[in-house]
Amino acid sequence: MAILHFKHLTHLMSNIVDKTKMYVDMEQSKAYSESRPRYTDKLFKTIADYCKETNPDLDLAVDVGCGPGMSTIGFTKYFKKVIGVDVSETQIACAPKNIPNCEFKVGYSDKLPFIESGSADLFCCGASFHWMPQEETFAEADRILRPGGSIAIFDHVVPSSDIPEVQACFEKYWKKLFPFYPKEATHAIDGFHDLKMPYPGWIRNDEITLSMKYTVQQYVDFMKSTWVCRAYRDAYPDDDILTNLARELTEVLAKSEAGSEYTVTWPVFILMAHKPNH
Ligand SMILES: C[S@@+](CC[C@H](N)C(=O)[O-])C[C@H]1O[C@@H](n2cnc3c(N)ncnc32)[C@H](O)[C@@H]1O
Repeated sequence: MAILHFKHLTHLMSNIVDKTKMYVDMEQSKAYSESRPRYTDKLFKTIADYCKETNPDLDLAVDVGCGPGMSTIGFTKYFKKVIGVDVSETQIACAPKNIPNCEFKVGYSDKLPFIESGSADLFCCGASFHWMPQEETFAEADRILRPGGSIAIFDHVVPSSDIPEVQACFEKYWKKLFPFYPKEATHAIDGFHDLKMPYPGWIRNDEITLSMKYTVQQYVDFMKSTWVCRAYRDAYPDDDILTNLARELTEVLAKSEAGSEYTVTWPVFILMAHKPNH
């Protein structure tokens, strides 16, 4: 699995991350909305179908750590109401405002006072759980979920390319960024293989892959959208990492037969659990 290309870098992760400074930059949040991989309907349907196993009527989905809403809006097709929550006001400011059955709120995963106890059919975290306090977040999920409601945690972590030279270039740059991930993100890099869901009988799905064509500029925007890249640029203002990445990728592509675009893929993993009915 492509995620494991990066597993050998996890020892570089640190505990130095100040999470209160995550995603406060509008340029970064805009790059986020424009350059991140698009989640497919298959992903949202897989999660909604799992929820239906214990409840055919899907009323409320809560997407926690929703960013600018890309992990949220796909649920509006399957749930009567969807609420996206994120700790970052900037991310929430970039979320869409015109979807009738969807709203966005600023809030922490472990404190969601605006959601009634026992009211949610789904508590979902997409590409966000690795930032959260696990025990407290699971406890809040348990409070807001109705009996038979579901938790879904999915992630896609670092991307890969099938062109070896492009992959080598990705790896070189991710290596610089890994020290800015907190240690708890190791779970995500490992594909959450050691994460225990809070309810018995939980399942894992590794069947979904995201794939997107990128130009060099779009990939640079993708990197710009990551929190770790923001942190790196703050720590090393003299290393123009994005310009250097653009130059190297352009050189690599010029030597390959790939043309100006290349395909980037992200394997997705989903962990899902039903809250017991009793
Ligand atoms: C990588 S983004 C994922 C955004 C979106 N779910 C997606 O899949 O595109 C992670 C998001 O989690 C948010 N976040 C981190 N810790 C959080 C917490 N404890 N509660 C709520 N949001 C949190 C960050 O502000 C950020 O927007």
